Amino acid sequence: MESLLVRKGGPLKGTVKISGSKNSTLPIMAASLMCSGEVILTGVPDLEDIKVMSGALELLGARVKREQDVLVIDGSTIDSFELPEEFSRRMRASNLVMGALLSRFRQARVAYPGGCAIGTRPVDLHLKGFEKLGYTIKEEYGFMEGNGQPRGGKEILLDFPSVGATENIMMAATLLPGTTILRNAAREPEIVDLQNFLNRMGARIRGAGLDTIRIEGVQRLGGVEHAVIPDRIEAGTFMVAAAITRGELFIENVVLEHVQPIIAKLQEIGVEVIICSCGLKVVGNQKMKPTDIKTMPYPGFPTDMQPQFMALLSTVEGTSIMVETIFENRFMHVPELRRMGADIKVEGRVAIIKGRTDLEGATVEATDLRAGAALILAGLFAEGETRIQQLEHIDRGYENLHVKLKNVGADIVRGPWS
Ligand code: EPZ
Repeated sequence: MESLLVRKGGPLKGTVKISGSKNSTLPIMAASLMCSGEVILTGVPDLEDIKVMSGALELLGARVKREQDVLVIDGSTIDSFELPEEFSRRMRASNLVMGALLSRFRQARVAYPGGCAIGTRPVDLHLKGFEKLGYTIKEEYGFMEGNGQPRGGKEILLDFPSVGATENIMMAATLLPGTTILRNAAREPEIVDLQNFLNRMGARIRGAGLDTIRIEGVQRLGGVEHAVIPDRIEAGTFMVAAAITRGELFIENVVLEHVQPIIAKLQEIGVEVIICSCGLKVVGNQKMKPTDIKTMPYPGFPTDMQPQFMALLSTVEGTSIMVETIFENRFMHVPELRRMGADIKVEGRVAIIKGRTDLEGATVEATDLRAGAALILAGLFAEGETRIQQLEHIDRGYENLHVKLKNVGADIVRGPWS
């Protein structure tokens, strides 16, 4: 079983090029099933989750080809509408094929997605949205089954601005007759990217990025070429790497607007962020101050940056408060950080962090994707050697993370040590 060995080194210095967004690529891959033409996606990151989604599309009969960061998907040969649990358990986002299959074929049978370390991850809002659109939904034997010949023209109000439910309902409404209005929609940049992709295929969707999205149904979609947006969470992870090592990194290939909530919190802590025309420079410094963070739906502070900021605030003297409002169990990295000497107390969804400068290396386990990233960041600061195990979580969402860190001076190696 591979693990990472991280040792305290000097401040990180240099330039990091951010890869394409995992959370934009996955829904767009699902949406590629909605046309019988060829879709060419560029800037696609090389991640485990992308491989799993490619396998899911192939199981449905689509043809998927990858050359470097280009993914070519041909949906003209789809001959199955059923996704077994081996996919939905491994990767929750595979349930996004349901909206795409319903839209184009009016039928889908997808195994329930698994929960994961950070929460039970229900899909009730997805299913309620499909039913509101007029699809007949059945839940039996661990599967969600949808079919019917619905007419669009409905208004749907989401109880919570769920990212996945917004994406799934947008897709399910795209090829229905009539106009669908989706209220209390999630506003993440990845939803805007999905809207732009669908509209280039011939859809007529307006309002992504705001809380009300209007989907005017069309008859069919055609194949297109599309470059996915950069990964704002990878960018944020490297911004924190510069801060926690008191270094200076230039972050290339980042959309400034998408990382505003991250910049705001770094500046509150006393980290310098300099905006340049082709990216941004992050300069950590010795004197930083504690702060309070509450995760919120976009454009609030992203839950996917919560573990990384917890690692940073664990090294900043003073008391910081972290409130996790999105997922019910997203503090799995706390016991691992405490092994390194971090002083963190958890009360429900609130973590009280008493920062200290004497963290020590330890053997720790990545419990989920962003928790793994947080442990690497803490290892860059801690005295001695930190060994990080369960790297499969990190490989799901970061492309060559240890290589990119090594290239800017991190003392980090990946090896077959058990
Ligand atoms: C997306 O997950 C992201 N994944 C997550 O990123 C991200 O943390 C999350 O959005 C929030 O921003 C992808 O885009 C592939 P949600 P998603 O539906 O769509 C509850 C990462 O690290 N909920 O917005 O599953 C749910 O339990 C991953 O890259 C319901 O109750 O998130 C959670 O508490 C982790 N019923 C909250 O809403 C539903 O039907 C937010 O979930 C759906 C969601």
